Amino acid sequence: MYTSAIEKALIAAFAKYPVSVTPVLSPPNKNGGGDFQCNSVLQLAGRMRMKPADLAREIAGAIDLTGIADVTVTGPGYLNFILADGYVATVARETAAAPSMVEPVAEPEAVVIDYGGPNIAKALHVGHLRSFVIGESLRRILKAVGHKVVSDIHYGDWGLPIGKLVLGIETALGHEVDAEEVAGLDLTLDSLGEYYRAGNALTNDDPAAYEKAKANTVNLQKGGAGFMHLRHLNLVALWTRMREVSLAGISQHIETLGAHFDTLDGESDVDPLIPAMLRSLAEAGLAVESDGALVGHVVEDDSLPPVLLRKSDGSYLYGTTDLATIVDRIAKYAPDTVVYCVDGRQGVHLKTCFMLAEKAAAAGVEGFSPLPRLVHADFGTVNDASGKPYSTREGKPALLEDLIGEALEKAREVITDDTDGETARKVAIAALKFADLSTDRRSGYVFDPERMMSFTGRTGPYLQYACARVNSLLRKADEDGRGGPGDIAISHPADRDLAVEVLGLPAAVHRAAVELQPKAICDAAYDIATALSRLYAEVEILRAPDGEREGRLALLKWAGSAISSALDLLGIEVPERM
Ligand code: ARG
Repeated sequence: MYTSAIEKALIAAFAKYPVSVTPVLSPPNKNGGGDFQCNSVLQLAGRMRMKPADLAREIAGAIDLTGIADVTVTGPGYLNFILADGYVATVARETAAAPSMVEPVAEPEAVVIDYGGPNIAKALHVGHLRSFVIGESLRRILKAVGHKVVSDIHYGDWGLPIGKLVLGIETALGHEVDAEEVAGLDLTLDSLGEYYRAGNALTNDDPAAYEKAKANTVNLQKGGAGFMHLRHLNLVALWTRMREVSLAGISQHIETLGAHFDTLDGESDVDPLIPAMLRSLAEAGLAVESDGALVGHVVEDDSLPPVLLRKSDGSYLYGTTDLATIVDRIAKYAPDTVVYCVDGRQGVHLKTCFMLAEKAAAAGVEGFSPLPRLVHADFGTVNDASGKPYSTREGKPALLEDLIGEALEKAREVITDDTDGETARKVAIAALKFADLSTDRRSGYVFDPERMMSFTGRTGPYLQYACARVNSLLRKADEDGRGGPGDIAISHPADRDLAVEVLGLPAAVHRAAVELQPKAICDAAYDIATALSRLYAEVEILRAPDGEREGRLALLKWAGSAISSALDLLGIEVPERM
């Protein structure tokens, strides 16, 4: 790392004092100036009972970073480091030539990411958008820093919603479904949605219908467990077809959003593991009977609800499949960490599942060891201008398809010379994704097609445009006969500022990986793009004098590829021209 010389010098300087304080190098604060700052002198001064400013000056005088950085003292005793131009140019050249932008972590982990989480019966809505977008970005970021990542969609295909969907279909048919007729049913993603809504409405109004939906789920789950009664077999046949139809429909969304899943496993896939798991949990005293149901308490008091593991009718629930999925993933991937990229409103559900898994591991229940670190990478809601969750006129969560449609429409207004529609598509998705990724994932954000499509400000299209502009300059340089990029050089403060921003990107990627926050990369990419804009405003590029031009073109090329690598980690594609 290009900061290690400074860090070493600081450690050596601090080591001369009889108390132990670890110096920390941080980005400069607003009025600090310089490229980096170290505020640890304040702490050292406190322990040494010295005046911080005096101590800072003493240390600054003792540090020799000739050719690397100048050291100054500001404020109450901050050390500021200003990298030397020659050093910036050297590390820029080295970094640009390195095979990969980001160095791998010292200890790579096996990580499973659980994201997307669509359900058979329901159309993807605005809540799923965030899971797909953030989850895919996290997948790319964790891979980029060297972790071994498996992404799993955790398809919602085994709970009560399925029983309601079956109810909707059978009500429309007027009879219970027969395996023979399943292939002939007109099922599409849309009709499944309608059947589900119909079934759901019936259960809301009529307790008998609700019982029927529950019975459907139980009978399907029994079929899954190998029971051979005709009803079970018919339901399994219908379910298999519904799952296929639903997956085919969803795969289009997955493609549009550029998500990648190593496995398309669902809740149903872990069904075979459930009976043994429940038996072991019960033996360990972690699952107990309560009114005919089986529950797992996670706290002594009632500050948290128990995990419901089996209803009195014998059916399994959301928590049951989540726990069995932990067991399944341990057996398949021996993960160090499992990241759940799931809506924050499911916080209690996941928390109680994780707690029960921890208790199970501690009690030595089979299948739960070694228990990975279970992390909920939660996110807030997508809101409208008034701050309420974004929804349709009827007050239902807006459909993912409609959101993408709105973004596409806006993008087509903005991108006019687009022969195959590819640029508008890339711009629309970029706008959508960047708006989603550029705030702290835990807070909600406002879905505003107008603003997120803007070519100025913190938007996806602005960053895409920054890359396209670099590409266009490089093409022109290639054509005007004066030669293309040479070795990166620094001949103006604007060159230097740009280089320093680009050098900061790898650290931002690592931060994003540790904090599971793609925002860190959005910020770094935006800072590079604004430094590029300043450069265009302040210096000549193509008309720069010989000797300066090659170095600057190389710098631009490097900055452009840094932004495009950053966008790639966000799952955003860059059009060649815009
Ligand atoms: N299918 C769920 C939903 O739509 C999301 C699944 C999240 N993942 C999990 N392991 N629980 O709400």
